[in-house]
Amino acid sequence: MHVLKIGNNNFNGMAFIIKMKHNKASASSNYNKLFLFFGFLLLPCSASAACAQVDHASLLSLAFKPPLNWFSSTDCCSWEGVSCQQDDDDHRVVRLWLPWRRLSGVISPSITNLTHLTHLNLSHNSFSGPLPNDLFSSLSRLQVLDLSYNSLTSHLPVFSSKTTRLETLDLSRNLFNGSIVVPAAAAATLTTFNVRKNNFAGSNPISFFCNNGSDHTSLTILDLSFNKFTGEIPPGLGACSKLQVFGAGFNNLSGYLPDEVFDLADLEELYLPGNRLSGHIGKGIVLLTKLKILELSSNKFSGPIPSNVGKLSRLENLLLSSNNFTGHLPPSLTNCTNLSTLILRFNHLTGDLSAFNFTTLPRLTMLDLGNNNFTGGELPQSLYSCKSLKAIRLANNQLTGQISPEIVALKSLSFLSLSL
Ligand SMILES: *[C@@H]1O[C@H](CO)[C@@H](O)[C@H](O)[C@H]1NC(C)=O
Ligand SMILES: *[C@@H]1O[C@H](CO)[C@@H](O)[C@H](O)[C@H]1NC(C)=O
Ligand SMILES: *[C@@H]1O[C@H](CO)[C@@H](O)[C@H](O)[C@H]1NC(C)=O
Ligand SMILES: *[C@@H]1O[C@H](CO)[C@@H](O)[C@H](O)[C@H]1NC(C)=O
Ligand SMILES: *[C@@H]1O[C@H](CO)[C@@H](O)[C@H](O)[C@H]1NC(C)=O
Ligand SMILES: *[C@@H]1O[C@H](CO)[C@@H](O)[C@H](O)[C@H]1NC(C)=O
Ligand SMILES: *[C@@H]1O[C@H](CO)[C@@H](O)[C@H](O)[C@H]1NC(C)=O
Ligand SMILES: *[C@@H]1O[C@H](CO)[C@@H](O)[C@H](O)[C@H]1NC(C)=O
Ligand SMILES: *[C@@H]1O[C@H](CO)[C@@H](O)[C@H](O)[C@H]1NC(C)=O
Ligand SMILES: *[C@@H]1O[C@H](CO)[C@@H](O)[C@H](O)[C@H]1NC(C)=O
Repeated sequence: MHVLKIGNNNFNGMAFIIKMKHNKASASSNYNKLFLFFGFLLLPCSASAACAQVDHASLLSLAFKPPLNWFSSTDCCSWEGVSCQQDDDDHRVVRLWLPWRRLSGVISPSITNLTHLTHLNLSHNSFSGPLPNDLFSSLSRLQVLDLSYNSLTSHLPVFSSKTTRLETLDLSRNLFNGSIVVPAAAAATLTTFNVRKNNFAGSNPISFFCNNGSDHTSLTILDLSFNKFTGEIPPGLGACSKLQVFGAGFNNLSGYLPDEVFDLADLEELYLPGNRLSGHIGKGIVLLTKLKILELSSNKFSGPIPSNVGKLSRLENLLLSSNNFTGHLPPSLTNCTNLSTLILRFNHLTGDLSAFNFTTLPRLTMLDLGNNNFTGGELPQSLYSCKSLKAIRLANNQLTGQISPEIVALKSLSFLSLSL
């Protein structure tokens, strides 16, 4: 057997660039389900029906740029992206669905005259400027509002006391600013509240949705990531018992991760990197039995990685880098057989790495344990059985010794950094 001997924590490493996925939009599948569900309830327009005059006029005064082919028929219910429903003698526009149409300019206030709208999707366009102030008070029947992936600015229009049917609000990837206030009536019906990637600031709005009074909340997706929210994660979060995705990464949150988070039995994704959160991660974390993604990187967490973490059997991504974690790599982690990304770099972890058995982690694709204090004589032999590995980074530890030629068996490997 040919063994390459490299002394003193210098494995003659190569340096490539590691590209890390920040997060997964597991939200999209839910949107699709919602869309299907509501799409089903819409009655098809009968060919003879004509749309109400007020809706016809409002649609035309939206004056979309570039113009849509909306003049071919006098019945606006047959226009591209428009669906109607019979209301007494009229056919009223209930659905305006125009994603991915390269539309630009301001969303005209005439949209507030489409008072029967229940579903509005203008996502993936280039709309800019503010939304009409009275959007929510005028469109009180709205159930789905998706304006994601535009360049909309200014504050969120105030929710009205009449906003009592809204289920999906997706404003992600815009330039909205100011703070967010959600009245209890609106918070009670929302299942998706996504404001990811905007410039919102002020106190985080978590407690509008999740508090001791909100037993009946149906919120499943709460994504506040990439804004400038401040404040702590309130213990009341535990009341949002249906949450599947909770994201508030890359804000300015401080304080501890309250134990009430562990009451969220349906949680699949906990995404909180890039804040100023501190304290220990309690062993209660194993109550989150459905958790797939746990991202807490770039905070001020300390103490050990909970030794029972292996009970999170569905865990796929564990990212805890750039914190102050101490202690060993928990042996129980070998029970997380679906683990794909394990990134723990820049902590103060210790222990003999060659004692850790990677054999049970066949799906591991990215392993970064660099910048810790791990010891060990050589690369753990068991690592060579992780055939999916694309990147290994162990640089800046107390590792010494040998790399087995077996490493060539890792055919997907394109990044290996073991050097000092
Ligand atoms: C809006 O349309 C886009 C593009 O088809 C789709 O991906 C998204 O799920 C829709 N939004 C909702 C809330 O259904
Ligand atoms: C809404 O419709 C009314 C009546 O047709 C009209 O007077 C008003 O200007 C419209 N509002 C907007 C913002 O277009
Ligand atoms: C929000 O954005 C608008 C338009 O870009 C700007 O006029 C306003 O000053 C901003 N407000 C805050 C609080 O940043
Ligand atoms: C809400 O419940 C938590 C946990 O049960 C408790 O600590 C807190 O004091 C309660 N807050 C209010 C405002 O009742
Ligand atoms: C985060 O909030 C603190 C006060 O809570 C403030 O001093 C600090 O400037 C904020 N940081 C950023 C990047 O906004
Ligand atoms: C880690 O802990 C040390 C000592 O307790 C402290 O000085 C340091 O600022 C902490 N680092 C982080 C990133 O919190
Ligand atoms: C691992 O992932 C597969 C497919 O992605 C899934 O069928 C299986 O249930 C997962 N195992 C666990 C323990 O969650
Ligand atoms: C893995 O899980 C099994 C069954 O729950 C348990 O008996 C075993 O001790 C666990 N392995 C480790 C290393 O914790
Ligand atoms: C590793 O251990 C040494 C000696 O105990 C200590 O000086 C150093 O700060 C530690 N490094 C890390 C990254 O924890
Ligand atoms: C690692 O785990 C595998 C599967 O559980 C087992 O067959 C193997 O003997 C273990 N290797 C070591 C060095 O403990």
